[in-house]
Amino acid sequence: MLDDGQARTYKCKGDVASLVDFVGQQQHEGTLAIGHTRWATHGEPSDLNAHPHTSMNGKVILVHNGIIENYKELKEKLTRRGYSFKTETDTEVLANLIEYIYIRGNIPLEMAVRLALTKVVGAYALCVYTPENAETLVIARLGSPLIIGVGKGEYFVASDATPISEYTQSVIMLNDGDMAVLQREGLQLKNTLNQTLKPEVQLIDWDVENVALGSYDHYMLKEIFEQPRSIEDTLRGRIDGQKGAITLGGLYSVMPRLVNARRLIIIACGTSWHAGLVGEYLIEDLARIPVEVEYASEFRYREPIIYPDDIVLAITQSGETADTLAAIKLAKSKGALPLAICNVVGSSISRETVAGVYTHAGPEIGVASTKAFTAQVAVLALLALKLGEQRGTISPEDFRDGVDEILSVPSKIGKILEKNEEVKHIAESMYEARNSLFLGRGYFFPVALEGALKLKEISYIHAEGYPAAEMKHGPIALIDENMPVIIVAGKDKSYEKVVSNVQEVKARKGRVIAIVTEGDELIREMADYCIEIPHASFVAETLLAIVPLQLLSYHVALLLGRNVDRPRNLAKSVTVE
Ligand code: F6R
Repeated sequence: MLDDGQARTYKCKGDVASLVDFVGQQQHEGTLAIGHTRWATHGEPSDLNAHPHTSMNGKVILVHNGIIENYKELKEKLTRRGYSFKTETDTEVLANLIEYIYIRGNIPLEMAVRLALTKVVGAYALCVYTPENAETLVIARLGSPLIIGVGKGEYFVASDATPISEYTQSVIMLNDGDMAVLQREGLQLKNTLNQTLKPEVQLIDWDVENVALGSYDHYMLKEIFEQPRSIEDTLRGRIDGQKGAITLGGLYSVMPRLVNARRLIIIACGTSWHAGLVGEYLIEDLARIPVEVEYASEFRYREPIIYPDDIVLAITQSGETADTLAAIKLAKSKGALPLAICNVVGSSISRETVAGVYTHAGPEIGVASTKAFTAQVAVLALLALKLGEQRGTISPEDFRDGVDEILSVPSKIGKILEKNEEVKHIAESMYEARNSLFLGRGYFFPVALEGALKLKEISYIHAEGYPAAEMKHGPIALIDENMPVIIVAGKDKSYEKVVSNVQEVKARKGRVIAIVTEGDELIREMADYCIEIPHASFVAETLLAIVPLQLLSYHVALLLGRNVDRPRNLAKSVTVE
């Protein structure tokens, strides 16, 4: 909305950089602007279907993150009342619905939005204004995240704090059903019942340096290289090397229940699910508590058996993943104790759970999760050791060794990062492949899964992660001289077996890239390439083994000219179901 009283809309298919090119050098002065990078649900990605959407008579302009599930029915009703539609989106239906109520009722926009939302089934984070009153922005949230950044004489509205942390550290988190009206004079926050709420301003502790690219070419590379520091941040105040003690303050109130747990259910998606698998192995090994790891999306749509004495632990970087949020709500409704390991302070999942641990990895901007994964695994290792200590399932000596192992991780990762050039060279050997296989056993199986996910999401090379021993039950048929097989083969109790797997791959002319423990001459002789990692026990080995795979994916994607930080079709926070 410009100072000359005109609303101007620019839309463009593609990424934000394309929009910047499209808008070009045109400079506009104005006080209110809205924008949204759309996740295509209804209608293909196109300039027309892009946000903002304007209602038929131009009285309402809005951006919307979420899905209007009953959009067809609403569209039919509006069509009968003379409305026509330019796009295939559900959002345009919402714009027209608000406009219809706004014009017919001759009421303030806020009231029209409130009434329109009572007719909507679905999820939304919404920013709406009318060119008739360019000084007022109405926002609302249900199911999709929304926050307000409070600056000096200005407000920002966003899905999370990352994009606005450059401008302000003060934020107000909206709850489901909340609406707010932002004006020059201030803001008014209301709940579902139209009751005025006192806005609670929280400070986020992310500094500008955290969101700046600095000397790195990409956020993903920066975040991979940040890991020695981000893990130290995760561990700070939680592990005491001198006393040999672990303190998880966020779980203090629920520790007795955790220590006596009959079982623990971990729910997560994607990379966080892989961290959950590492957590399962660690907690079962060290604390002897049975753990089930579930994809949040599967858990919530089947009829899971949840007992009131169950503990359900969500693992999530963003704290906003729709499926994980819904799964935790389901677990809560069945009486289970909901906990979370989460990176974003004040996020929806952290507010939906009764206790938990923040990973403090700092904002993760690259779409492919790297430092958030290692932070999650570090927290799970602390939790497993703590529970093992409290339950008496590990000896004081093993507990002490575990503490020392974890404390040595940042410097060991530093050593792996020195091999960046070596990994880049290895990437040149595989970037032309169409398919790839990632294998690992025991603790290295989740690492193989995560390595495969990293490669496929940013390079678009098909990558499958498999338990190494399962290879002979099917995937071995794929192996020929064109197939890179990445084997995570650190020296642990299944090492000998993995050596046999390397031999099996070589016998079929597969190209082996192996992640091995320093000084491993046996696999070096057989493999085409080896990347060495420092020795570590099972408590910490996954934290080391994943790092070369993150670097490998990064370099392969770069060689293929991919948009490493913004891979196609993916979003950083998956707030759609
Ligand atoms: C992959 C990746 C995703 C996320 C998943 C869950 O690199 O980032 O697989 O791990 O979308 O997201 P969170 O952890 O925010 O719940």
